[in-house]
Amino acid sequence: MTIVKIAISGKGGVGKTTIASALIKSFAETHQTVYAIDGDPDACLAAAIGIPAKVSAGIKPVVEMGEKIKSVSGGGAIYTLNPTIDDSILEEYCHSHGNIRFMRMGDVKKGGSQCYCRENTFLQALISLLLLDKDEVVIMDMGAGIEHLSRGTARGVDLMVVVVEPSRNSVNTAMNVMGMAADLGIGRIRIVGNKIRSEKEKEFIEKSFQPGKVLGYISFSNDIWENSMDPVSASTEDELLNGMREVREKILGEAGGIQRSKGGGPV
Ligand SMILES: Nc1ncnc2c1ncn2[C@@H]1O[C@H](COP(=O)(O)OP(=O)(O)O)[C@@H](O)[C@H]1O
Ligand SMILES: [Mg+2]
Repeated sequence: MTIVKIAISGKGGVGKTTIASALIKSFAETHQTVYAIDGDPDACLAAAIGIPAKVSAGIKPVVEMGEKIKSVSGGGAIYTLNPTIDDSILEEYCHSHGNIRFMRMGDVKKGGSQCYCRENTFLQALISLLLLDKDEVVIMDMGAGIEHLSRGTARGVDLMVVVVEPSRNSVNTAMNVMGMAADLGIGRIRIVGNKIRSEKEKEFIEKSFQPGKVLGYISFSNDIWENSMDPVSASTEDELLNGMREVREKILGEAGGIQRSKGGGPV
């Protein structure tokens, strides 16, 4: 069975959004539907997968869907009752871009005084509530910290991909994320090495993790780097897309062992 819910994490700036968007595009080639969730209010996943800024600004954040579900279900226990999300409600918050169904968590808040508890709580519910058919996959750009992840979310995540660049700090962050993810019960945690400039850098990452943990390496690319000055152009570089196609095949190969009953966690 090829059903996977994938969360992408790693230190700020390592390339989570870049990697997530390429992985989304690569899965869109082989899967009927790819749910792309921007779980980082500071991210620009929409632009990276080719949704124009004008359009993405108009997409309702899913946190509002939580309110809506509460209001139609009489409030309260949506997180414990584990209902399915009604398709018509989902439709309102999903922006279809080809066979990619994009959702975003919320907006960046001003002043840093407010937390994202409400958004995170709903995001957790959403991940475990999305019932997937065969040939559907969920890919979520998590943002840097996974401290807010609860067991509820973790139950819905089949695979955590931690993006690492060749620096000690980035490896340390990855180790922390891996530790937390393991504590939360996420069964499968893998690494993608990004911004690789030399064999030595590749070896540095390879040696930092247990054998078999690294799904693939993406080279440093001047084109990707320069593209960030003009994030509107969402073309994904061939080498990056090819690299993520290989990663996709590895994920699917490993996921052959994942049996997921609808709505349930991995067994
Ligand atoms: N393989 C790469 N080669 C060159 N630059 C990259 C690569 N991956 C990401 N970048 C650049 O690094 C910066 C951070 O990438 P981004 O995907 O936004 O990271 P994150 O989502 O982890 O904060 C961006 O300017 C992006 O263009
Ligand atoms: Mg990002």
